[in-house]
Amino acid sequence: MSERRLSVPAIRSSKRSNGDEPLVMVTAYDEPSARFVDAAGVDMILVGDSVGNTVLGFNDTLHVTIEMMVHHTAAVARAQPDALIIGDLPWMSYHVSSTQAVESAAMLIRAGAQAVKLEGGSNRAEAVRAIVDAEIPVMGHIGLTPQSVNAMGGYRVQGKSIEAAEELRAGARALEEAGCFGLVLEGVPEALGAAVTAERSIPTIGIGAGPRTDGQVLVFHDILGLGNRTPAKFVRVYADIGSQITTALQEFCGDVRAGTFPGEDESYATSEKLSEHLEHE
Ligand code: KIV
Repeated sequence: MSERRLSVPAIRSSKRSNGDEPLVMVTAYDEPSARFVDAAGVDMILVGDSVGNTVLGFNDTLHVTIEMMVHHTAAVARAQPDALIIGDLPWMSYHVSSTQAVESAAMLIRAGAQAVKLEGGSNRAEAVRAIVDAEIPVMGHIGLTPQSVNAMGGYRVQGKSIEAAEELRAGARALEEAGCFGLVLEGVPEALGAAVTAERSIPTIGIGAGPRTDGQVLVFHDILGLGNRTPAKFVRVYADIGSQITTALQEFCGDVRAGTFPGEDESYATSEKLSEHLEHE
């Protein structure tokens, strides 16, 4: 087992209100992306079910299966990162029963994750309790939960009314009481992100939840400008790697068509003896 940058107990007790630095989590879905993310020094790598949108070409995360998540989690684990690997439980891998939830979580742990994440509030407390009881650390995820896209009627900011905000706060409490070591808060008003953060003793990791959470998470492809659609309001794009990739590939196409690739440097030398033999054939 590699020496983790931060263990689950260290993350569980990390709160900005205690003077701790904000936690950083970024998604990765394969060995190279995990290597890059780990080299940057993140605390947690989330093998998110966003792999469905970012890598597999689906329009939502609902098509992602536990087998796909096992495949991608194992690839990330092969990078042997120092960051904690969190495997995302996909839709329908934990909704049927507690037994199913534990078995799905175990598949991600055996693939190389150290913890799992699942979406939902009070309605998922039982599944969380069962997984934690099997010694598997669980991160919760509330607010804009992409697996509920149909129930929410689209990808919309959640917790905007007083009733919805209270339900979300109750969900956060239920998840902490069920044993979650952290909570992703996605797509909620800034002040609600701050309120949930203040009243919970486990860290909140925000994505579109304002600056007052205990940490932040973004999707690898969004940070690097690799997406195929306009990023959400909460994304900050730090590089335009997508354009750089296209430019590099266009140059390669041009070189091949102009006959300038490969050159001498990219070719293997031929001995004089072999050259003479080939010329006189
Ligand atoms: O799947 C994912 O990438 C996520 C993050 C957006 C938190 O759940």
